[in-house]
Amino acid sequence: MMNEGLLSFCEKLPKVELHAHLNGSISDETLLELSQASGLPEEELVELHNIVKNMKCRSLKECFKIFDIIHKVTVKPSIIRRAAMDVIKDFANDGVVYLELRSTPRRVEGSMTKKEYINAVIDSIRESRNIHPIIVKLIISIDRKAGVLEAEENLQLAIEAKEIHPDIVVGVDFSGNPAIGAFDGFIPVLEKAHKSGFPLALHCAEVPSVEETENILNLKPERLGHGTCFHPDAGGTQELWNALISAKIPVELCLTSNVMTATVKDYKNHHFDYLYKHGHPIVLGTDDKGVFSTSLSAEYCIAAKTFELNNDQLWQLSYDSINYAFASDYEKEKLREIFKEWKQKLLNTA
Ligand code: IMP
Ligand code: ZN
Repeated sequence: MMNEGLLSFCEKLPKVELHAHLNGSISDETLLELSQASGLPEEELVELHNIVKNMKCRSLKECFKIFDIIHKVTVKPSIIRRAAMDVIKDFANDGVVYLELRSTPRRVEGSMTKKEYINAVIDSIRESRNIHPIIVKLIISIDRKAGVLEAEENLQLAIEAKEIHPDIVVGVDFSGNPAIGAFDGFIPVLEKAHKSGFPLALHCAEVPSVEETENILNLKPERLGHGTCFHPDAGGTQELWNALISAKIPVELCLTSNVMTATVKDYKNHHFDYLYKHGHPIVLGTDDKGVFSTSLSAEYCIAAKTFELNNDQLWQLSYDSINYAFASDYEKEKLREIFKEWKQKLLNTA
């Protein structure tokens, strides 16, 4: 059971979401609604509805099967637009004031090009500015399962989109099933992304893999996703752990995602504990709030209960996340003002 007072504090707390995959963030309600417009044959629609009702990942493998099903629904620009609008609304309603949405450009034969996909997400981000009090940015994802040629194509599209929308397209992500594909081949693409002015947010050490983790660290990414298996107690090594701590690379931590996919044993054993105690830069994220039935407020609540954080510490954790955003200095200053005003108001009413 959630503590009502704590949950209400976490919901009201201004929050920064830096690790959210668009398709994994679609709520069940939106997904079911959109499935009608997807043109799926009746029997597949029924199957999809049953899966959504029983959607619960128990492993990374199952989780990636669920993404495949969601991708059967998000097959044309009008659906992508609507999905992105709803996801942004959900985050705004949850008290998120700054959101970096990441997504893998997808081509669907006969109904959508990758460019149309990206433009649909960007359209929604622009439109949402007039509706919700939230700043939204886009990170273009590279899916390791799709291979290096697709990665090069996605980077090229990201470069072109950034030229037209520099206020929205802000970074490059490396994600996908960590059990598939060697990392080495992607190094030149990610180096090129850096040279093209993109900060990198790379999924890293989601499963134990010492060599790949070293290669990722060598790229000097701006942020790491998950970082589950650095510590020797979690399938890493002392050298890897030391390298992470001394590099001070901010880590995006997704508690529920890691527990549900069983990449960590339980909340208590989550590496949040080590990193927080070390004063290492960290930011809480939802990863896939639709697939994992969570919200950023819920993640703050879980962190508070599991690691005994008080309200001041929660505010500070959220406030410090601004430092790691791929936003402009001006936007970061504006966000800091919002946070400070919120805190002041809270003190005044106490
Ligand atoms: P999309 O990029 O908007 O289609 O969001 C879903 C995609 O994000 C999945 O197909 C994966 O490639 C990626 N993704 C979501 N969650 C994870 C994760 O926990 N680890 C690695 N990749 C992920
Ligand atoms: Zn992720």
